[in-house]
Amino acid sequence: MPPSEAFIRGIPKAELHLHIEGTLEPEMVFDLARRHGLPLRYPSVAALREAYHFDNLQSFLDVYYAAAAVLRDESDFHALTYAYLERAHADGVVHTEVFFDPQTHTARGVSLEAVIRGIHAALTEGQARLGMTHRLIMCFLRHLSADEAMATLEAALPFKDLIAAVGLDSAEAGNPPSKFAAVFARARSEGLLTVAHAGEEGPPEYISEALDVLQVRRVDHGVRCEEDARLVARLARERVPLTVCPLSNVKLRVFRRMEDHNLKRLLDRGLCVTVNSDDPAYFGGYVAENYLEVSRALGLSRAEVTQLAANSIEASLLPQASKREWQEKIRAFAARAADCRAYAP
Ligand code: ADE
Ligand code: ZN
Repeated sequence: MPPSEAFIRGIPKAELHLHIEGTLEPEMVFDLARRHGLPLRYPSVAALREAYHFDNLQSFLDVYYAAAAVLRDESDFHALTYAYLERAHADGVVHTEVFFDPQTHTARGVSLEAVIRGIHAALTEGQARLGMTHRLIMCFLRHLSADEAMATLEAALPFKDLIAAVGLDSAEAGNPPSKFAAVFARARSEGLLTVAHAGEEGPPEYISEALDVLQVRRVDHGVRCEEDARLVARLARERVPLTVCPLSNVKLRVFRRMEDHNLKRLLDRGLCVTVNSDDPAYFGGYVAENYLEVSRALGLSRAEVTQLAANSIEASLLPQASKREWQEKIRAFAARAADCRAYAP
């Protein structure tokens, strides 16, 4: 049976691939620019939104890093994060693992402490008011040097208790995971977990490197694994989670149309595929929109959407006891929906 919108929004789920800077809506860009007296290249919110047409990852990153320049102080990071939590909550997200890019901000003279404290305060408030749990993941910009990543890691260690994991993002092609082997080894030695973007625009070898060299516990995107049958078999056998972002993949032309997306094929092969929003302010929707669009385009069943939600909990950094509780709630939600007219298609 095809899932209804109410089913997709209502089913409890975790979001595991979300760049907090990617939730910066054009309205907030204008508000913050006004507040800080910063000039903008675009005359209106509509004109800025119009600029969100991308040919590839780099053309998006250029716009994304430029917009982030309006984030100047702790209260900006707090407002940005809390606005995201409210939207995610409305989409049925019960647990979120949020990426942030410290180097984008420290390069402009914003302190790492302001970034981390602003985000963390909002996450804590979100837990108290909305009941959403969270983890914070600090990403290194892979187009910059490994030395700069190492310096960022060292600067973040005083805030280690607020950070669950380190990740790797930005321009993938030509910046393999192995470039950051020493940084990730140091992060692991400090007790931090590791994840990395791989196989979005980069080749399947980058996915293997992320697993073998960086020892990641899941792969962000990973959709190009399909070009290597042995890698697909490995990902299935080891249940390595992929944090797939369908709207992002279409906007950045990893797939031409949503109908071409390989999410269902990977799910059918037994991979632990999850659905996430990446940079929702830029790609046309938050996490429920990603579930909806990919479900419609690929004809996913209610059982497959339930599997995706269950995978998101399995792939999260939550403790086992919380995972068991959420898996039971997901099962109960799906069973209730089976005989409830509110969720009929
Ligand atoms: N930073 C924000 N979104 C990204 C993506 N989709 N790939 C790599 N780096 C990113
Ligand atoms: Zn991403």
